[in-house]
Order: sequence, then C-alpha cells, then structure tokens
Amino acid sequence: MPQTRVALNRMHPLARLDHLYLWHPFTQMRDWLRREPLVMAKGSGAVLGDAQGRKYLDANSSIWTNLHGHNHPAINAALSRQLKKIAHSSALGLANEPASRLAEQLVKAANAPVGQASCLPAGRRPAPPYGRLKTGIRKVFFSDDGSTAIEVALKLAYEFARRTGHSAKPKFLSLRGAYHGDSVGAVALGHIELFHRAYKGLLFKTDQVMAPYCYRCPFNRAAPERADAREYRKCGWECLDKFERKFEAQRKQGNPYAAFVFEPLIQGAAGMIPQPSGWLRQAAQIARGHGALLIADEVMTGFGRTGSPAGASGLPARAASAAAAPSLFACHHEGVQPDFLVLAKGLTGGYLPMAATLTTQAVFDTFLGEYGEFKTFFHGHSFTGNQLGAAAALASLKLLEGAQSIRARSQLEQTLRQELRALWNLPNVGDIRQAGLVAGIELVKDWRTREPFDLREGAGVRVCEAMAKRGVLTRPVGNVIVLMPPYCTTPGQARRMVAALSEGVREMQKALNRRS
Ligand SMILES: Cc1ncc(COP(=O)(O)O)c(C=O)c1O
Repeated sequence: MPQTRVALNRMHPLARLDHLYLWHPFTQMRDWLRREPLVMAKGSGAVLGDAQGRKYLDANSSIWTNLHGHNHPAINAALSRQLKKIAHSSALGLANEPASRLAEQLVKAANAPVGQASCLPAGRRPAPPYGRLKTGIRKVFFSDDGSTAIEVALKLAYEFARRTGHSAKPKFLSLRGAYHGDSVGAVALGHIELFHRAYKGLLFKTDQVMAPYCYRCPFNRAAPERADAREYRKCGWECLDKFERKFEAQRKQGNPYAAFVFEPLIQGAAGMIPQPSGWLRQAAQIARGHGALLIADEVMTGFGRTGSPAGASGLPARAASAAAAPSLFACHHEGVQPDFLVLAKGLTGGYLPMAATLTTQAVFDTFLGEYGEFKTFFHGHSFTGNQLGAAAALASLKLLEGAQSIRARSQLEQTLRQELRALWNLPNVGDIRQAGLVAGIELVKDWRTREPFDLREGAGVRVCEAMAKRGVLTRPVGNVIVLMPPYCTTPGQARRMVAALSEGVREMQKALNRRS
C-alpha cells in the first residue's frame, strides 16, 4: 500500500472505500492518496453537497457537462416517467421512442438558421467529389461519450473519403493543442504532448496546424495589455496563411485532407483558447475550398455554452439580435455548417453518459447497399440510443429553448464578463478569455512579460485548491483556471466564484514566494 498522509481509519467511510479501491481519471494517484477526498453526495442547482454536509459551488459544471443545474425538476421528472416504462433496450435491430424523438430534435437544431451557413468565399468552388455533398445535417448516430462520438465521426469520414474516391489513404488535420478524447482514434487527433506522447506507437498519423492562440501567438506584435489578447492583437492573420499552406502542401502530395477536425470558437482542454472573430469562418472556407469535410467537435461548446453570437465571437450586437433564439451550436455563430457535428457532455443536461455524431445525407448514402455488398457501418455500442439518456436529453433541449433559459444564459454571460474584469488587477493574471459561458484565466509569473509558470510549480492546481477551501470547485487546464458554471448560476454565485478565484491567485502567489 502506498503511504497515505491521512490514516484510513480517520477518514469518512466512503472516502476510505475510494482510497482502497478507486483509480481516478487524469489524476496522480500518489497525490490523491495523500489526502481525504471530497465525497459528493448531493446537488441542487449550482451547488454540490458532500458526504460531510459541506456545500460547494460547481464552477466547472462537473467537468463541463451540467447545463441547467443539478437535480433539475424537469429532467428528474422526465427520467422518472421514462423509468416507469423502460430504462434501456438495444438499438441493434430495435427502435425506441425517446431516441427517435431526440434524433429529430437534434437534426432540427443542428442546421444553421437560414442565411448563416455560408462558409464558401465568392468565386471559390469546393473540389470534387465533396462538391457533390448535399449539405445539411440529416442523420444521428448515438454513442456513449465524447470520445466514442469522435471515433464515429473519424471512421465515417475515413470511409466516406475512400468510397467517394477523394483519397485512398484519408488523412486528418486538427489544431495544435487539440484534445478530442481518450480512445485511440480520438487520441490520434489530439496534439497535447503531455497526454498523448506515451501512446504514439498505437496511433495513426494525423497532421496538426497552428491554432489561433492570440495571447501566445508568435505573430502577434502587440505588447501585453490588460485585456483579452484577441482584442488588441496586431497581426496579419498569419495563422490562416499557415492553415492555407498546409492544405496546399497536402494537395500537392496528391492526397488532399479528408477532414479538418476542430472545436469551434474555443479549444477547451488545449487551455481555453478562443478564436478571434472571423477565424473559424475563414478557416472553414479554406478547408472546404480544398474539398475537406468539416468535423465540428462541440462536445464542450455545444448546447448554448458559447452564449450568444455577439458574446462568443465579437460579432456586432445587431447580428446577434437578428436571430430570436440563438443557435445552440458554436459553429453557427460563425456561419459554419459542418458535415459532422459531435455532441456529448451537455447532451443530457449533464445527467447521463450519452453522445451523438450527426452527419449529412451524403455520408449516410455512402453506406447504403444490398446486404451482401457489406457497405454497412460496422460499428456500435451496447447502450446506443439509451432510452433514459434520450429522455433526459429531450427534457434538456426543451429547457434550452425556453425563454427563461435564454434569458438566464445571457445574464450569466454578462455577469461573468463584468466580474472577471476585477481580475486584471492581479499581476499573475496574464489573459482573461471568455467565449459565452466559458472563461479561461491564464496565470503567468508577470503579466508584463507573459512568462509562464513551469507546470511543475502547479500554479493552476494551487489556485483551485485555494478556491475549494472557499467553497468553489473547478479544475485547471495547466496554468489556466476554468470557470464554466451551470446556466442556473445566480449573479451572487457567479460573484462568489470569481472572488474565490481572485483570493486563490493571491494565495498561490504567496505560497510560491515563500518557497523561492
Ligand atoms: C472537445 C472535447 N472532445 C471530446 C472530449 C472527450 O469526451 P469524453 O470525456 O466524454 O470522452 C472532450 C472531453 O473533455 C472534449 O473536451
């Protein structure tokens, strides 16, 4: 047994069980075993309650999954109703009501509002054979989580590229720092050295291209200011030049990219890196111009997370107010209609593991044939189309479309924007970047130099631990603190989250000073 600082017999019995038997994701278990874990037992709205009766604000929506708050009466009721009928039946050979209804709703939501889906520049034609694509999302393939949903998109796009003759050896392009999940296919699309290098031997090769990370962009000539780096950057969109050159180089090799895989508007696990307004629209035009499919990974960004178009990407307020109900998907905020839309996390409002890969009629048709032709998509999961999950997702979608949720999201987005301003007073805050209801606060040694903390110093972890002591729970992405509260978070709760973050940064700095 590893040495533990807390004696097992002094711990809450449930914490003891955890220490004895569990292995936690993305966790150095030696650190974990040094202290008693918080054991979550309850939830209500934005508040989590532990087994000792203490309360915490859920400032990262339980790892980016929860939308409407915990224990929501409408989702609870939908689940109870469904439980009285059936929890699960197989989608292999059988249909079911909630999955079919959910697929219909998702297809409706996944198509950009008319006039917003224009990602081809004037005079530019997509290269055949993808030019024949009937655009628009028509079909839904259900799975279990973000990784499996990405895996489905990858396999479908791969086969589509081969069957249409676009490429004999289809190749994928994704963004630097990308994270698309932990199954082997999803890892192959990822470019986070720390997570992915151990598995290089298992992976197929994909290409990466510069992501628009304005704060640390080598082409940004602006000196640091106390504002989101996207607002004061000085550049000539060199990132897009590089993007275009990548596609050209690949085309010259006679094997154009099959697909470009991206998180629209903001990359999450890469470090909460939001794209400057217009980047996605232009990148999508370039990719399409080279005949590549667009795979939008909205596992984190989907279901209203990136807020209103104006809030998310800096579009003028007029454009934002043109649509009565903002699209639930980030890519639509930049007028991009993808060929694959990958959804998970918030799909069920954060209640159950369920995911969906949405795609076009053209992709679907490529897999049609006589039985003996074996064009079938030979892929599936035991819990595909799970009835409980689909019932929760239908209830969540209904909430999202309601005026109350739309108002609450908009208000929370504004409150966060307002409150986060106070953090610019902290010398260790280098960048504050917000896309709708997601905020990333990048910690640095000194904002004037942008010098990063060495990851081993654990600056982000220290801040989050200090926040937890103040009753606010979130997890860092390296040196970036994430705030991503449930949509039901009140202005007072949002203020408490930011105040705890501010105090946490001060405490982290004091601790590091003491050590040096
Ligand atoms: C953008 C993105 N894609 C895919 C995934 C993988 O999702 P899951 O953890 O549900 O497998 C994640 C998880 O954080 C993600 O952020």
